[in-house]
Amino acid sequence: MSGDLPVRKQRWLVAGMAGFILALSALHQIVPLSYIQLHNFMQHLYFLPIVVAGVVFGWRASLWCTAAVGLTQAPHIAVAWSAEPVYAMDLLLEGPVFCIAGMVAGLLADRERQYRASLEMTKRKLEQVYLELQQNVERLKKAERLSAAGQLSAGLAHEIRNPLASICGAAGILKRGNATGESVVDCLSIIDVEAQRLNRLLTSFLQFARPRPPKMQPMEVEPMIDSVLALADHAHRAPGVVVLKEIGAALPEIEGDPEQLKQVVLNLVINAIQATPEAGAVRVGAALEGECLRVTVRDEGVGIPEADLPRIFEPFFTTKDDGTGLGLAVSARIVEQHGGRLSAHPNEGRGMTFRLDLPLRRSVAA
Ligand SMILES: Nc1ncnc2c1ncn2[C@@H]1O[C@H](COP(=O)(O)OP(=O)(O)O)[C@@H](O)[C@H]1O
Ligand SMILES: [Mg+2]
Repeated sequence: MSGDLPVRKQRWLVAGMAGFILALSALHQIVPLSYIQLHNFMQHLYFLPIVVAGVVFGWRASLWCTAAVGLTQAPHIAVAWSAEPVYAMDLLLEGPVFCIAGMVAGLLADRERQYRASLEMTKRKLEQVYLELQQNVERLKKAERLSAAGQLSAGLAHEIRNPLASICGAAGILKRGNATGESVVDCLSIIDVEAQRLNRLLTSFLQFARPRPPKMQPMEVEPMIDSVLALADHAHRAPGVVVLKEIGAALPEIEGDPEQLKQVVLNLVINAIQATPEAGAVRVGAALEGECLRVTVRDEGVGIPEADLPRIFEPFFTTKDDGTGLGLAVSARIVEQHGGRLSAHPNEGRGMTFRLDLPLRRSVAA
């Protein structure tokens, strides 16, 4: 019960209390009974060791201490019995009162100790659970990284093989030296196109495999969307495909990396343009949505078959002949690093809406 004090200190305390009780009893013997006030005062000092015993060692210790006090006082009580009967009676009656006070103090201290011990136990259990949870999360992250790495290398090998085969074929024809003027031009253009494709693939792949951490800063979303629209102006598109901006009220600032977020929205807009084979609008919107700023890219294109939807964010998933299948994977990764979410939603009518939810700046959200 006396778990708070080290054993050495407990021993010293017991010795001190015993010495105190013995000294008081000796004084009772030495001081003549005529100094009755002094005896009375000394008598009340017994209260101290009895209560200390209860508080430090538990309520039972008060009982033992009272018994010890009673024993050492017995000779004094016997002497006082005939000379000062009222005083002697006081001595007898005060013993149990001190004892009860000591036991109550001991019980309260015990209760507090138990409460503290159970708190300590709960804290230790919580720490253990937290540690296990953390280890599990680390394990999961590692497993996910490994499977992504495996997926990536398999996908990359596959993606490189086709353009490489075309380049080798074209180079082989040129090397034989018997190609006509027209086929020389064809071969060179095959080499050019496929080399560019490999270059694009590698650039996106590196962005995916070695993403740089975002340089977070307070930023406005509307100018970022404006510069995406200016870039998208140069993208190849079917006749009658227009890109529109739809922003209503003034938007709060967010915390983000403007360059990376521009890349994400540009990816979405280009995908939307490519998915619109005939006239239609691509609408880029932004609005406050609870704790987030939501950027939407909505098109009236061919849409995504339900079976493909779960796969579009996988690296190398593409339905385009010259696609890398890395645009959405890179974008999702960037958005995740911003603490946001990128999601795809089929429209009621035609086409898709991509939603980019970005957390507001902490100060603004508060
Ligand atoms: N707005 C869209 N409408 C229809 N399909 C889309 C849209 N955006 C993406 N997709 C589908 O998701 C696939 C993966 O896109 P992405 O990762 O950008 O790679 P890529 O554009 O190189 O194919 C696309 O090939 C396409 O099938
Ligand atoms: Mg794309």
